[in-house]
Amino acid sequence: MIELAPSILSADFARLAEEVQAALAGGATLLHVDVMDGHFVPNITIGPPVVQSLRRVTDVPFDVHLMIENPDEYISAFADAGADWISVHQEAYIHLHRTLEHIASRGLKAGVVINPATPVETLSEVLDMVDHVLVMSVNPGFGGQKFIPASLEKVRTLANIRNARNLGFRIEIDGGIGPETIANAVRAGVEILVAGNAVFGHGDPHANVGQLLKAAREATLVKV
Ligand code: DX5
Ligand code: ZN
Repeated sequence: MIELAPSILSADFARLAEEVQAALAGGATLLHVDVMDGHFVPNITIGPPVVQSLRRVTDVPFDVHLMIENPDEYISAFADAGADWISVHQEAYIHLHRTLEHIASRGLKAGVVINPATPVETLSEVLDMVDHVLVMSVNPGFGGQKFIPASLEKVRTLANIRNARNLGFRIEIDGGIGPETIANAVRAGVEILVAGNAVFGHGDPHANVGQLLKAAREATLVKV
């Protein structure tokens, strides 16, 4: 199932509830929450209190993308605040296996993320324990960056491995997704599309989500 996950990073934080509601009204079925600590990435965003406040605005699953050092220390706080999915970077912590187990032990969907320079092969030992794999198609830290086309090859590799090993994880992509890149991402095998700037950067989030989903679904039709 194709899903669009608006990233609130590009939303107007002073009108966050309103922006989120508009994006959801356009057909988004998930909300992508980018958490940055100023150490793992050169930017600082939001933490558990904002997740907790947003929980009162909608029931859709929150896809929390942790771009922080020592993510294991913050799993419980985000789980308590209302996260449904938590993704951690392969690069962020030595004990990735433990952290993924920790997320699952809280009853949440566990995801692993790889930066553009990190090979898919580094995930081989955890692919059977994740619900989703998030391929970064920009270097994390900021919204509105240019899509890195080589990410699509990583998506294809992941889809092949999933097939060969008969695994069930879903493939998500994050960074530079918009009207020009969304169809190729879907054709490569992406099911969950994160979009920040393309949803909240200009115009009406409701209409933007509708257009992006339409383009993604048309690409699915072309593939079959
Ligand atoms: C980047 C974040 C992304 C970002 C995507 O560090 O993880 O989720 O918000 O933004 P766009 O869609 O603008 O590239
Ligand atoms: Zn993200």
